[in-house]
Amino acid sequence: MAQFKLPEPQPDPLLQLIGKYREDTREEKIDLGVGVYRDDHGNTPVLEAVKEAENRLQQEQKSKSYLGLTGDNEFVECLGMLLFNSDAPYVYGAQTPGGSGALRLAAEIYNIAHPQGTLWIGQPTWPNHLPLTESAGVTVSTFEYFSKSSQQILFDNMLAAVDKASAGDAIILHGCCHNPTGADISHSQWQQLAVLLVEKQVLPIVDLAYHGLGDGLEDDLAATRLLTTTCAEVLVAASCSKNFGLYRDRTGAIYMSSHEKATATRAQAVFGQIARKIYSMPPDHGAAVVRIILQDDTLKQQWLDELQTMTVRIKTLRQSMSDFYPALNFVAEQKGMFSLLPLSPEQVNSLIEDHAVYLAGDGRINVAGCQTDQIERFVTSLKSIGFSGAE
Ligand code: LMR
Repeated sequence: MAQFKLPEPQPDPLLQLIGKYREDTREEKIDLGVGVYRDDHGNTPVLEAVKEAENRLQQEQKSKSYLGLTGDNEFVECLGMLLFNSDAPYVYGAQTPGGSGALRLAAEIYNIAHPQGTLWIGQPTWPNHLPLTESAGVTVSTFEYFSKSSQQILFDNMLAAVDKASAGDAIILHGCCHNPTGADISHSQWQQLAVLLVEKQVLPIVDLAYHGLGDGLEDDLAATRLLTTTCAEVLVAASCSKNFGLYRDRTGAIYMSSHEKATATRAQAVFGQIARKIYSMPPDHGAAVVRIILQDDTLKQQWLDELQTMTVRIKTLRQSMSDFYPALNFVAEQKGMFSLLPLSPEQVNSLIEDHAVYLAGDGRINVAGCQTDQIERFVTSLKSIGFSGAE
């Protein structure tokens, strides 16, 4: 009789969708599932700037000895210089295994600083936000951020949640290109929110995973920069998966921005201590590649150009979907990779099973997964399952 008893594993629905799509033999299949950028041939290419940086790394790297708990500190510094502007207060951070690793360290450090605090998360959100933060021991409360049926942001709900929060609570904010809705609050709403966060002493934890893929890098970083200059402390979890295309290399960083240097430097040391207990040190390759790109003006410009190509393709796809089918006009107004279509679970199931159109169970589509010549079939499939747009 086995002694080692485990509960039934709960497969991750998004990752399960990848497997299901791969196994589907229908030639006309369309992949709008997991959040991965694809070009118009359906490929997720390695960026040219990344390839060049990898070549240089191979030539230059002298050792693969340990770097330390906070990883490649030069990477952390130059990524920080890209993300934060010169008005930023003190910003110190640590390299992490992807944006998920950064979020985990954010949840852990928050739990150390405020063990009685509540972390507020707007719904809908990236499905891993809740399990990831709760498994760090954090108490989570949710509020409704977005109406799927009307495609409207419920900004008053967001303000009400912060207003109701206690001093020392925290809130997860999508820095840009909200996942799964593509619906971001406006600049003036960010300003209003930032003032309330200061007043209520609520800590913003910014999840920054799609910067550069909405309105361009500078515009996409504006909200994060506004928060770091306005709020006494901000945790920023940054991913290089999407904008550098380094998905499997698990490249990211967690930053503490503080108006007091001692708080930020102490946080950096604590990030390292937490990492030691979980994975000890982050993997080097992706961070070394990003460092090489950001430290070389020519390579950096090449990367920015490639990023711009991705952004333009996503915007063009959004506009084409809306032009093709005006019931999708909200898609053209939203930003980044995702939109959340007002579909029932039955309609989603029918799209997958009857039309080979793969999307997340909640109706989220990855716009960047669509090829231009697939738009017509996507729209026809939507019409045939009775989709008629937002309320
Ligand atoms: C997504 O939302 O599809 C991506 O962030 C991939 C993931 O890890 O869920």
